[in-house]
Amino acid sequence: METLGNDAADFRLDSGGGSVAIERLLGRGLPLAKQNDAQRLELHYHALSNFMKMFDIRSDDRLVLLTDRLIDPRVINAISGVAAAQGVRPVEVRMPNTQIEAIPDDVKPILDKATFVVSTWFCSVIDPYCVRLRAEQGQRWVKITYFRDLDLLHAPHARFPVEIMSQLIRNTAGRYPRDKACSLRLTDHRGSDMTVELTARMNDANLNTNRWRGELLANKPGAYVHYIPTHGPNLYERGPAIDHADQVVPVNGIVYPQWAVGFERPFVERIGVRFADDRVVEVTGRSEEAVILRDMLIGSRLIELGCGFNPKWPRHTIYPAGSNSPGVLHYGLDLAKPSDYIKKTMPNWEEPPVHMDLVAFDTTVTAGPNKLITNGFLEALRDPDVVALAARYGDPVDLLESWPE
Ligand SMILES: [Fe+2]
Repeated sequence: METLGNDAADFRLDSGGGSVAIERLLGRGLPLAKQNDAQRLELHYHALSNFMKMFDIRSDDRLVLLTDRLIDPRVINAISGVAAAQGVRPVEVRMPNTQIEAIPDDVKPILDKATFVVSTWFCSVIDPYCVRLRAEQGQRWVKITYFRDLDLLHAPHARFPVEIMSQLIRNTAGRYPRDKACSLRLTDHRGSDMTVELTARMNDANLNTNRWRGELLANKPGAYVHYIPTHGPNLYERGPAIDHADQVVPVNGIVYPQWAVGFERPFVERIGVRFADDRVVEVTGRSEEAVILRDMLIGSRLIELGCGFNPKWPRHTIYPAGSNSPGVLHYGLDLAKPSDYIKKTMPNWEEPPVHMDLVAFDTTVTAGPNKLITNGFLEALRDPDVVALAARYGDPVDLLESWPE
């Protein structure tokens, strides 16, 4: 430290009789991030291999694309090109945006005939009509919320090996007690303490969904997967958990989220969101954000407790629907009424203004006696079989624990 100037506020490095401001030297001790054309080409083909595995369109498939006018059109051309190579000509239904809350009646006869569906529409996962088409007709669906720009093929998370994500998910599934009731408990050092009391049936119904089995490709009948694969299965999901639409799931306690989609920066104030019997009943705090959330969230219901599983998703990017970095949680809430704040700040959000995602990067999650996540670190990242699998692709620490910003 003797080479630093004495005045801490000055923060300069003495050098050769002069001095340099420290901020001018940032990064000079680290390797350059620059890649040459050949390296970029290799990385691009690496990502393309994952892309081709996902869009596993076969010669006898009937492909329907449910799209919107805001998506990068090159994405649609890229998928159509893969289909053309199999002699498949897609039918595309394009809407002004993705905020489609149910499949329109006019579209149903088109969708009914599909065997493979690529969709940007919000209703894809929850509309019972879509659920039935997958369950009864075996339609394979790829949701492309995380692939709205073809340039994402250059992002590190597009190259992350799907096989490792599958193993992370299966190992996390293995930490849930099977065939018995258990409490899913979420805590953090801010005082959050929320529980979801799961019956054996609820628990198993969730774990029996394709993504919890580690199936992240659209190669099996009934598949519902995301491309780019980043969003794992949900730690809790209302859909498979309930038997009837107005069922009350015992979700109780208080959560202090660190951030929420649609807010420019993480919350400075400790804002509490209290749940009682499935619904938000109180939002504490005095800041501007607390006032907005109070107006937005009272009466809303938890529909998914999402968790990231892709270690190369930029850790602190929470748009459009929560960070998909391992161990980061998003609390997906269905609002009691549409939110004017969301309409103003995100008029073209990929989700309709009756939904909100609260985010926490540092939660500890237990399922019965077992830890799934500790302070926002997904326990499965250090499982010996995951580490051994990662070693096939590179250095496990780099692949699993070096999270891009
Ligand atoms: Fe989600």
